[in-house]
Amino acid sequence: MADVKSVGVIGGGQMGSGIAQLAAVAGISVWLEVATNALKNLKCTSNLEDLQSADVIIEAIVESEDVKKKLFSELDRIAKPSAILASNTSSISITRIASATSRPCQVIGMHFMNPPPIMKLVEIVRGADTSNETFMTVKTMAERFGKIIVCSQDYPGFIVNRILIPMINEAFFTLYTGVATREDIDTGMKLGTNQPMGPLELADFIGLDVCLSIMKVLHVGLGDSKYRPCPLLVQYVDAGRLGRKRGIGVYTYGKQQELIKS
Ligand code: NAI
Repeated sequence: MADVKSVGVIGGGQMGSGIAQLAAVAGISVWLEVATNALKNLKCTSNLEDLQSADVIIEAIVESEDVKKKLFSELDRIAKPSAILASNTSSISITRIASATSRPCQVIGMHFMNPPPIMKLVEIVRGADTSNETFMTVKTMAERFGKIIVCSQDYPGFIVNRILIPMINEAFFTLYTGVATREDIDTGMKLGTNQPMGPLELADFIGLDVCLSIMKVLHVGLGDSKYRPCPLLVQYVDAGRLGRKRGIGVYTYGKQQELIKS
C-alpha cells in the first residue's frame, strides 16, 4: 500500500473543488486542474502535465464516458508509472474507463457524495482488474479524509445512484404527469420519509445534467425501460435549467443560491 503524499484533482466544479479541499485539510499536497477560479492554499493549474508527480489523480469532470476515457488515456501518458488514477464518476463503468489506460490495475472508482467536505460517505468501486494494493491505498486515503467507505461492484450507478437517481426520476414523472406540485412532492418526501431534502430540490443540488447522464447510464447499462429518463428532466436539461449551479432548475435561485419562490 502506497503512502499518498500528493494528489491531483481534475475538474474544478462542485465535486472537484470539494475533493481538493478534503485532501488539503488532510495534509496532502494538491494540484487542482481548473480553467479559472483558483482556490486559496491549493496549487492550481490549467496544465495537466503539472500532475505528473501526483501519487493519486482524482478525476471529477463531466459525466461522459467518451470524455473521461479520453482524459484517462492522456493521464496514463502523463502520470508517473506508480500513480493511481481514480474517477469520481457517479455511474460509469470503471472497467471501461480503465480500458483506456495501460494500467487497469491502478484505476479505481472513488465516488464522493455532494458536498464532499460534509458528506461522510465515499463509495469505492473496483473495476475488473483493480488490484488489492490500489484498493487499500484509496481506502486508506478516504479514511484519512475522515470518510466512511462502502465497496461496490462495477455495475451501472453502483450502490447509491442505482437507488437514488431512479427515485429522483420518478419524482420528475410525478410532476410531469400532474400528480402534484413540485412543493408538495418535495414536502411529501421530506416529511413523509424523513429525508433532509425533497427529490426535486436534491436534483437541483446535484445538477439536472448529472442526474440525466446517470439515468441514461442506468437505462443503457441495465436495459430496462423502467430506467427511461423522464421527458421533463430531458427538457429542463435541453433548456439549460441545470439546477443551483445555473440559478434555475426545478426551482429558481438567487445569487447566493437561496431559493426564490416563483
Ligand atoms: P460540474 O459541472 O460542477 O463540474 C465539472 C467540471 O469539470 C467543470 O468545472 C468543467 O469545466 C470541468 N470539465 C469538464 N470537462 C473537462 C475536461 N475534459 N477536462 C478538465 N475539466 C473538465 O460537475 P460535478 O457535479 O462536479 O460532477 C463532476 C463529476 O462528479 C461527474 O462525473 C459527476 O457524475 C460526479 N459526481 C457528481 C455529484 C453531484 O452531486 N453533482 C456527486 C458525486 C459525483
